[in-house]
Amino acid sequence: MSAAPETTPRERAAQGFLRAFGGPALRLARAPARVNLIGEHTDYNEGYAMPCAIDRDTVVAAAPRDDDVIEVLACDLGDSLARFRVGEAADVSNSTQWLRYVQGMVAVLRAQGLAVGGAQLAIAGNVPQGAGLSSSASLELAVRQALSALNGWQLAPEALALAGQRAENVYAGCQCGVLDQMSSALGVVGHALLLDCRSLDVQPMPLPSGTAVLVIDSKIQRGLVDSEYNLRRQQCEAAAAGLGVKALRDVSDSLWSHRGGSLDGVVRRRARHIISDSRRCELMAAAMQQGDLHEIGRLMRESHWSMRDDFEITVPAIDALAALVQDVIGDAGGARMTGGGFGGCVIALAPEALVGEIRAAVASGYRSPDGRAAEVHVCAASGGAGVLA
Ligand code: GLA
Repeated sequence: MSAAPETTPRERAAQGFLRAFGGPALRLARAPARVNLIGEHTDYNEGYAMPCAIDRDTVVAAAPRDDDVIEVLACDLGDSLARFRVGEAADVSNSTQWLRYVQGMVAVLRAQGLAVGGAQLAIAGNVPQGAGLSSSASLELAVRQALSALNGWQLAPEALALAGQRAENVYAGCQCGVLDQMSSALGVVGHALLLDCRSLDVQPMPLPSGTAVLVIDSKIQRGLVDSEYNLRRQQCEAAAAGLGVKALRDVSDSLWSHRGGSLDGVVRRRARHIISDSRRCELMAAAMQQGDLHEIGRLMRESHWSMRDDFEITVPAIDALAALVQDVIGDAGGARMTGGGFGGCVIALAPEALVGEIRAAVASGYRSPDGRAAEVHVCAASGGAGVLA
């Protein structure tokens, strides 16, 4: 849900709650958006990724009702109010697509055997929409945290993430991996996360001091994203089957050098991206620990080229935007497209001193195919989903 810049999501959720429901909320919960620094489409191949949660949130103000009705106020969408009974499908129209995520989460909770009672929820956020920063994961997890707080349920962050992924897979119809929800659930202030998408092990990696995290929204609508995303999944599965492994995670160097050449050309390139980008995550973790922004930049550039040439999920305007930002940064950091592809954002890690120059270069040197300027967000690595009050 889009931001009204003068107030925080927390303030808007609390004030919206008061307006709509006539009394103060009992609990407040939040969950952040995420940006992926490296390791794209590796999650459903059970490889590594390296996201960080960012300081753009969805906040839910909540109080219980004494029946089974859930009322949901979307503070940033003109106070649109929806209601549904627990266990019943609400009427989701084009203008209330966001409600699917709320209903999906309630359905997942019930499927887990938890008794969900009625509730009043007011939702506000400042996550850019449609930019590939996982506004939906942050909505799912914020709702889950709010309902947990109301009902006194304890939940490990991994379980929270898996519940969010399930809500998205089953109820919102997107076959995403676990990257977005794990990032939102487990973010650590000032750190990226080396995420093992098989074991769900997470190792926080310190961002080198003085490094700016820039998220540059290309304003390119992410067309074809669902069909191309699913096609990439199928191609990766075909590659794993062709190599006789459970997932591309399991392809060793020797297996690749002996059998990689037997794959069909397109499938081979898809696999090469996944195998190399997962490896780059491990190298990036080492570079992070050494504070080596030069090596971090090299890996990010290679990752972009791999997405462009092997996985074919970039578009020319995004390639140009990443190259333009990289030109300003030189070898003092890196820039690459982030997220599922076909639009969305470029992520850059660069010395803080270069932020002004990057902004200026993007303002003068970039326009989307439909003539729009990019939006530059300077973000901080944030903590994971939690209860605020
Ligand atoms: C989307 C999906 C994630 C992940 C990324 C690509 O954000 O939701 O699960 O696959 O694309 O890395």
